[in-house]
Amino acid sequence: MATAAAPRTDRTPADGAPGATADTAAHQHAFDTAVAAEERIEPRDWMPDAYRATLVRQIAQHAHSEIIGMQPEANWITRAPSLRRKAILMAKVQDEAGHGLYLYSAAETLGTSREELLDKLHSGRQKYSSIFNYPTLTWADVGAIGWLVDGAAITNQVPLCRCSYGPYARAMVRICKEESFHQRQGYELLLALSKGTPEQHAMAQDAVDRWWWPSLMMFGPPDDSSQHSAQSMEWKIKRHSNDELRQRFVDIAVPQAESLGLTLPDPDLKWNEERGHHDFGAIDWTEFKEVLKGNGPCNEQRITQRRRAHDEGAWVREAAAAHAAKHAGSTGRTGATRA
Ligand SMILES: [Fe+2]
Ligand SMILES: [Fe+2]
Repeated sequence: MATAAAPRTDRTPADGAPGATADTAAHQHAFDTAVAAEERIEPRDWMPDAYRATLVRQIAQHAHSEIIGMQPEANWITRAPSLRRKAILMAKVQDEAGHGLYLYSAAETLGTSREELLDKLHSGRQKYSSIFNYPTLTWADVGAIGWLVDGAAITNQVPLCRCSYGPYARAMVRICKEESFHQRQGYELLLALSKGTPEQHAMAQDAVDRWWWPSLMMFGPPDDSSQHSAQSMEWKIKRHSNDELRQRFVDIAVPQAESLGLTLPDPDLKWNEERGHHDFGAIDWTEFKEVLKGNGPCNEQRITQRRRAHDEGAWVREAAAAHAAKHAGSTGRTGATRA
């Protein structure tokens, strides 16, 4: 396994540092060689502009998804049916805030500030996962999100632990451990409902009916229409195609649905002996594109709430900045650059 490498010193420093005028071809060669050898690219290493831009776009979208993703489930914290369920849900939602923090920090190592990324989120110039634009209508949705949405996230994110960019890969290791807990709590919640009263079972089934297809869309467009995939795979940011990951998720979910005693809402879902995988029905990409365009059930509500939370948290950021400035003054350090 390619372990988390310490920052390399044998590659030429990034732009602006001494040596930046050296031959770009040599830099590119060193970068390509490192990626091919499964070494990690670290913040101070030279990297192609497009690689940096792709990482910023992907990590920012990922970070935004973590913090927007707190909303649909936080909606149920006050109505959790028991103290135990409330404690689990609060821990889960707090984990998602932590994931956002690790990821914004990883993006900062690429030279973008958290403020700039949040501004892009709030003004609609950067996206978050469309899955969070669906409403959580019942308590069972908390279970379906944990089982399916966090389950899909794990399928997507485990290969990112081997991403060529060091800070992103290392953030993903911890995130994936926490996502496993999220998936298990969702599964266990759905199992309790499924084995409960007929009304509880029906509630669990209804939630799975609504979340199944949006979960499959989380893997992104089909490979033949995915604009970023090929280059990202070449750079070893991505390790598997959207369709491969989607198939892997379906194959994992089918036996789990059986154990839960719930049905996945797809009449075309069946085992294909020849392929060694489950076949599944066609995804409604029109719906996906509509939600992506901002016309999902909760797009407006999510971003309004996010902006409000940001505004209401201004005093915390100001206090933290004042504290950091005071601390830097007392220790003679001037390292604090984040507002
Ligand atoms: Fe997360
Ligand atoms: Fe999660």
